Amino acid sequence: MGLRVLVVGGGGREHALLWGIARSPLLDTMYCAPGNAGTTRLAISIPVAADDIVGLRRFAVSERIDLTVVGPEAPLVAGLADEFRAAGLAVFGPGAKGAHIEGSKAFAKEVMRAAGVPTGTAAEFTMFSPAMAFVEDHGTPLVIKADGLAAGKGVFVAGSRREAEDALRSCLIEGRFGDAGRSVLVEEYLEGEEASLLALVSDGRVLPLAPAQDYKRALDGDAGPNTGGMGSYSPVPTVDADTASAIVDQIVRPTVDELERRGISYRGVLYAGVILTSQGPKVLEFNCRFGDPETQVMIPRMRSDLLRLLWATAQGEELPASVDWEPGACVGVVMASRGYPAGSSKGDTITGIVEAEALDGVTVFHAGTAERDGVLVTAGGRVLVVTALGADFAQAREKAYKGVGRIDFSGAQWRTDIGARAVGGRTS
Ligand code: GLY
Repeated sequence: MGLRVLVVGGGGREHALLWGIARSPLLDTMYCAPGNAGTTRLAISIPVAADDIVGLRRFAVSERIDLTVVGPEAPLVAGLADEFRAAGLAVFGPGAKGAHIEGSKAFAKEVMRAAGVPTGTAAEFTMFSPAMAFVEDHGTPLVIKADGLAAGKGVFVAGSRREAEDALRSCLIEGRFGDAGRSVLVEEYLEGEEASLLALVSDGRVLPLAPAQDYKRALDGDAGPNTGGMGSYSPVPTVDADTASAIVDQIVRPTVDELERRGISYRGVLYAGVILTSQGPKVLEFNCRFGDPETQVMIPRMRSDLLRLLWATAQGEELPASVDWEPGACVGVVMASRGYPAGSSKGDTITGIVEAEALDGVTVFHAGTAERDGVLVTAGGRVLVVTALGADFAQAREKAYKGVGRIDFSGAQWRTDIGARAVGGRTS
C-alpha cells in the first residue's frame, strides 16, 4: 500500500519506532520531526519541533502523510491528535481528553477509582498547610506528585516529614513546576517490583505488548538521582503470563472501558506503570505514549509488523489476537553524557557505533546525538541506548555491555547492572 509515515520526536524511543517501522513492507517513505543523527539514517529529518502542532499539521497535509506516530506526551496532551484528525489525517496517539490520563495525575486517579482499578490511595491538594496536615496524619513514606506534566521530574518519594515538606513547598509555594505543580497528589507509598505493561488501544480494543522494565536511578544498585531512564529489559521474569493477564484484566481493560464510558475513544498506546505488591498489581502511573527506554528493548523483539499494528490502531480497526515476539531477551544500556542528570555536556565526538553494531544482535539507538561537520557528537543527557538480543538475559547483557565497550565519547557514563536482576529468569 506504500504508506508515508511521520514520526514526531527526536529521542531513542523515536529511533526505535522508526527502526521497527522500516522493517514493514507497507512502508513507502518516513520522516521524523525533528529527529536526531541516528534517525536520519532511516528517515528524512524535518526541522519542526515536536510541540509545533501547527507546523507539523502543515507538513503532514502538504506531504500527504498517511500516518503520523507521536512519540512524546506533551504534543498529545496539547491536542496534536485532535488537530490532525480534524484535518482528516490518521494519527497514532490519543486526543487531548485521552492523553489527560498522563497530563493530570488527579484525573488518572479519578478514572481508576471509577473503574475499580487497584492503585495507591491518594488525596489532592492545592494548598500547602492542608497538604502538610495530611502528611502529619499519615506519616511517611509517602509519594508526592505534581498533577501535570513535569518532564519526569514531578514525582517525589518522601521518606521523611522533612522530604515531604520540601516537595510540597517546591510545588505549592515556590512554583517549581509552574501550573503543572499548582495541584499535587499525596499518595500511599507502595512496595514491590515495578514493571511497565503497554497495550495498543484501538477504540476500546486492547492488545497487550510484552512487559518491560526500566531503571530510573542514575547509579548501580538503584542509587543516585532520578533520570529519564538508564536502561531497560524485556520481557520481565516477574511478570509471568498470569500476572500479565491480571494487569490487562484488572487494570488496562477497565481503564479503557471507563474512558469509553466517558465518550473518550482512545487510539494509541496506554502505558501502565505498575507495582507488583503482595496484594497484586497496582498502578503507579499511566502514560499516553510509548515508554523510553522500554520501547528500545521491545521493538527489537517484535516479529509482528509494527507499522501494520500502528496503522490499524490509528484507524480504530480490529487488532490481532496477539503480537509475535522473538524468543529470548533484550537488554538496553543507556550511555549518558558527562553531568547527567543534573546537566549534560554537548559536542563530544562519538566513535565505535559501527563496531558495536557489528556484534550479532546489537542495535544502537540514538537519543542526544547530532552531526557537526560530518562528525557524530553528543547533543543531550541520554546519548545512546545500546541494545542486544540474546537467547537469555545473561547473553543479552553480555552482548549489550560488549557493545558499550566499543563505543567511546568523553565523559560517557552508564550503569553496569542493567538486566542483572533478570539473569536466570524466564524469558517467556
Ligand atoms: N520509562 C518511563 C517512561 O517512559 O515514562
